[in-house]
Amino acid sequence: MIQLIKGFKDILPEDNLLWQKIEFAARELFEDFGYREIKLPILEKSELFARSIGESTDIVEKEMYTFEDGSKGTITLRPEATASAVRSYIQHKMYAKDPIQKLYTIGPMFRRERPQKGRYRQFYQIDAEVFGIDSPYIDAQIILMLVTLFERLNVPDINVLINSLGCPECRPNFQKALLDLLESSKDNLCEDCIRRVDKNPLRVLDCKKEGCREAVKNAPSIIDYLCSACEEHFDVVKRSLKKRNISYEIDKNLVRGLDYYTRTIFEVQTTSLGAQSAVAGGGRYDGLIEALGGPKQPAIGFAIGFDRLSELLSQTVESVETGPDLFIIAPDSEKDMVFEWACDLNLSGIKTDMDYSGRSRKSLMKRANKINTSYVLIVDERELSCGNVILKNMNDSDQKEIPVESLVDSVKSVITG
Ligand code: HAM
Repeated sequence: MIQLIKGFKDILPEDNLLWQKIEFAARELFEDFGYREIKLPILEKSELFARSIGESTDIVEKEMYTFEDGSKGTITLRPEATASAVRSYIQHKMYAKDPIQKLYTIGPMFRRERPQKGRYRQFYQIDAEVFGIDSPYIDAQIILMLVTLFERLNVPDINVLINSLGCPECRPNFQKALLDLLESSKDNLCEDCIRRVDKNPLRVLDCKKEGCREAVKNAPSIIDYLCSACEEHFDVVKRSLKKRNISYEIDKNLVRGLDYYTRTIFEVQTTSLGAQSAVAGGGRYDGLIEALGGPKQPAIGFAIGFDRLSELLSQTVESVETGPDLFIIAPDSEKDMVFEWACDLNLSGIKTDMDYSGRSRKSLMKRANKINTSYVLIVDERELSCGNVILKNMNDSDQKEIPVESLVDSVKSVITG
């Protein structure tokens, strides 16, 4: 039998109930905050991700699904949505119409990571991005929106971590202090990080390997090197979150795994998912639009790990699958007529199934129980000769005669009350 590719998974119909609930709540909330949906392609030119996420990140170095596209260079299955949203903002000159754009998108992302619980090679994100606003109030608002979604969905045990990564103004001072430390502990770093010391020292702070973690234990924190503008920005974010009663912790070691971030960064973590504790993450990326050839416009956004969120919720929410409203059992000789009824009932909003097998009534009643239908419509030759069929309520076993003449209306009025 042909099986799924490792790290990929099916989301089965019974699990989709929860996925739909999450998606519905996210759409409703985001649209209340003025976000509009954008659909972005799953394949992009590889260069887009290398230039935005960063050449020396784990994602770009090791995890991208990249293919040759004939003579046109390489293309990549998107590992995230931010880069594509920025590309689209620039390509369609959205900024000319209005530099402020609030967008959201939901869909699959691909990273060739080592699969484990909560970590997949195809996973889904619910992503929100704001372009064109540099005010710290939007940082607080986007975190509030994210936390509100988690609250509305009753997500248990979440922690909001925030930090500031500063700007090109204050980063060099920090980098110098970090480099001094890294140079002195180079021997304990992994091979990747030894390379990163010269290319992108901040990435060393994000390495999960034991030796590297130990080496950076006493590393300086960028938050202690912020310039006054970044400090003021971060103060307003913190103050505004407090005002809205959003609990957060400042995590001086939070750096995030993508290179484009500036100033405020944040993560929502949980203690209930084992090793994969981050359910959502995001931050400001004020330089990216310009770096990708667009106008100088600031930006901020986040992405929720849809799979992780649904796994978290499935631990506490029991989604009950409902069966059809009606199941029709009829002798073979009446199938033409019953087929018409079933179509009419479906079209009038009654979730109707009919039997196609012609099995005995006894075995079909068993099936009716199994599929958890609310009502069964039994077509019996004798009743039919008097112009009636039987409608049985499966909850209380109450039976009613329904006139064939007005079948759809009569069934509908019983079922919908
Ligand atoms: P990220 O932290 O790489 O950020 O991913 C966001 C979330 O996606 C993570 O917190 C996690 O829940 C989920 N996730 C990531 N990788 C996997 C995986 N292999 N399997 C399952 N879930 C996963 C970004 O992607 C940024 N684009 C977020 C952002 C938007 N920043 C600004 N705007």
